[in-house]
Amino acid sequence: MDPTKTINVMVILGTRPEAIKLAPVILELKERTETTPVVVATAQHREMLDQVLDIFHIRPDIDLDLMIPDQTLFDVTGNAIKSFEKVMQKTTPDVILVQGDTTTSFIGALAGFYNKIPIGHVEAGLRTGNKYFPFPEEINRKMVSVLTDYHFAPTAGNRQNLLNEGVSPDNIFITGNTVIDALLMTVKKPPKQEVVIRSDYQRLILITAHRRENFGQPMKNICQSIRQMAEDNPHFHFVYPVHLNQHVQKPVQRYLTNLPNVQLLSPLDYHTFVNLMSKADIILTDSGGIQEEGPSLGKPVLVLRNETERPEAVEAGTVKIVGTDRETIISETLRLLNYPDAYQKMAQAQNPYGDGKASKRIVDLLIEKL
Ligand code: UD1
Ligand code: UDP
Repeated sequence: MDPTKTINVMVILGTRPEAIKLAPVILELKERTETTPVVVATAQHREMLDQVLDIFHIRPDIDLDLMIPDQTLFDVTGNAIKSFEKVMQKTTPDVILVQGDTTTSFIGALAGFYNKIPIGHVEAGLRTGNKYFPFPEEINRKMVSVLTDYHFAPTAGNRQNLLNEGVSPDNIFITGNTVIDALLMTVKKPPKQEVVIRSDYQRLILITAHRRENFGQPMKNICQSIRQMAEDNPHFHFVYPVHLNQHVQKPVQRYLTNLPNVQLLSPLDYHTFVNLMSKADIILTDSGGIQEEGPSLGKPVLVLRNETERPEAVEAGTVKIVGTDRETIISETLRLLNYPDAYQKMAQAQNPYGDGKASKRIVDLLIEKL
């Protein structure tokens, strides 16, 4: 490559977690004289993506504005691949970066491959080993791995997963997870706004849930368990920023409105959300990113899923898989909140996901390789 030319790095993102985890990488690419980021937003999420981009002062160079209400996997997949055809004709990146396991990541990588552009995968190598859990993310990330040239694996376990699938060790780089970079950049700044908790409380429980495999009965179980705990324990306060997906909104509105100690909120901007996580006693979630952030903040996380691709924090003792059975969610939550020993055991700050320098490592590697 011409040494006087900068490396054009196309960074593809579409959903809230991709934007959070790629923001530090984009900022690092902007800082370096050797690299120029070209940010392409599919906007698979609209409002929730814009919230993150605003916080990090990132403006996409190209915005495909794809989100439609209640979109299916076919909508996102079909519309994205067609739009990428035009994007790739207009721009000639030296490398494409995708993150994680969304449909945007998979289709972004596929479009890059069709144009024979090298692919870097941020957060490579996470696996549950179960085709349908999480759905469709487990297969999305496996397909991205097949298309990827540079695998940026957060942990040694993620690297091992890739080696088990036959990826060459020369192409895997352990970097840590960029979510820790984003978290550390954010947690130290005072937030512009804070959630006002509308009651006196002894314990604050933060909830998020949005996974496709939890739609239907599991989501109903989650909501009913929260309702029961709230009714039985008026001194506990539950705060729930509700994902905009209608499959989440509808059961939450049905089961969790009109309770004085359950506060339903719109999705929060990242800065406000990090501040809320810091104040919470425990977090109940099916989110991927929050399983990584909670341990760094010393917050016990109960995972509302039956398996996880993030075993490191479970092994470290700060995250526990509780599934979506109503009685189990209630007993595990109350055990933590009522027994200080159980709480203290889990509330140890642990950080198996990196030191906040993952983005720097990724950009260093891109410069070295390209
Ligand atoms: C997507 C990802 C999932 C990721 C999650 C993060 C896929 C298949 N799924 O799931 O891996 O964990 O994002 O949150 O890639 N909506 C809005 N405004 C928004 C965002 C969503 O109204 O800003 C509503 C729309 O009706 C949209 C629907 O939510 O059609 C579903 O969005 P979609 O991205 O398809 O699925 P998620 O469940 O958000
Ligand atoms: N988050 C946020 N506002 C909210 C809820 C979550 O900024 O109201 C952040 C959270 O800190 C984490 C990310 O969004 O970094 C997780 O996104 P999500 O749960 O949508 O996706 P997943 O990580 O499960 O793919």
